[in-house]
Amino acid sequence: MKIISFIFLFTFFLGCKREEISICDDSIGLFTFSSYPIGTAIDIIELGNDPLYKSIAIKQFNSITPENIFKAEYLHPEPLFFNWTEADSLVSFCQNNNKRLHGHTLIWHQQLPQWILDYQGSTSDWEQLMKVHIQTIMTHFKNKVTAWDVVNEAFNEDGTLRNSIWKQKIGVSYIEKAFLYAKEADPNALLFYNDFNLESNPTKRNSVLALLNNLRNRGVKIDGIGIQMHISNYYPESTQIANSFQEIVDDNYKIHVSELDISVNPLGKDIVPSETLFNEQANLLGTVVINYNKIPKQYQYGITFWGISDKNSWIRSFYNREDYPLLYDDNYLPKPCYCKLLRTL
Ligand code: XIL
Repeated sequence: MKIISFIFLFTFFLGCKREEISICDDSIGLFTFSSYPIGTAIDIIELGNDPLYKSIAIKQFNSITPENIFKAEYLHPEPLFFNWTEADSLVSFCQNNNKRLHGHTLIWHQQLPQWILDYQGSTSDWEQLMKVHIQTIMTHFKNKVTAWDVVNEAFNEDGTLRNSIWKQKIGVSYIEKAFLYAKEADPNALLFYNDFNLESNPTKRNSVLALLNNLRNRGVKIDGIGIQMHISNYYPESTQIANSFQEIVDDNYKIHVSELDISVNPLGKDIVPSETLFNEQANLLGTVVINYNKIPKQYQYGITFWGISDKNSWIRSFYNREDYPLLYDDNYLPKPCYCKLLRTL
């Protein structure tokens, strides 16, 4: 009897183990299960230094967004000097490994080089500066970058336009001009507007849509909207996500879930990372993906995570808090949210 129960328990244990392993098996890439691209933001330093980071990037994702090195302070550090070295190495990485490259970002109020912040000139000097910036970069990466976040984070939460340096120097028309310059430089690239909280703040979303629709009616090419989705276990609700996707699709824009991460500790409390927190996180990711799966195929540009493992996430350093927002843990083991994603794609 003892032996029988031992055998029974042993087989039961093996069965559980097998199930656990098979559910969370990350030996086949996520993107191979997906009908739309699955992306990650890539940190070029980690890519060069950490073989495990690199191998997960190659195996799991088929779309790459440079986390920092396509931003103005990196690419355009001096008025007459563009630094292509690191960006070109990322282009080669993408070409060698058959990854789509998403250009992030051309016009933003952050991570600007000092010379732009200090620049003195008339409105038309500023327009020229913006034109040269956009067109030099897009021409350099023509046929290598599929799509660009042309303008990033131009709105405030109350739906008004952010008083960024671009708006101060050029006026509200800077957004229209940025898209016009972009189209002129590379008519084949997809052009996106990218922002945060669009899934949870209808006031902001409506203002973004109103402005983009207005530009479109005047013939400006805008292909899609990047919804960053730096979200947390505690918001948004599924209905908010569904409504935002629906409204954007109804207005005929592709949707890029462009910077997805799910904070388990948005208020920066003292926490103990627990199974409950990770399961809540997994369930919310499932909700995002289920809603994304429902939008028509031609609008699914893809879902991009803002990093690979918790230890590389910008959230920890930027907000200086304990957090675990990504698919892989600090030891590069797939978390419950990875498993959920695999089952939901
Ligand atoms: C973040 C990067 O992840 C950090 O490494 C950097 O220090 C600051 O910028 N919205 C965006 C991204 O559009 O470019 C930001 O990336 C995160 C918020």
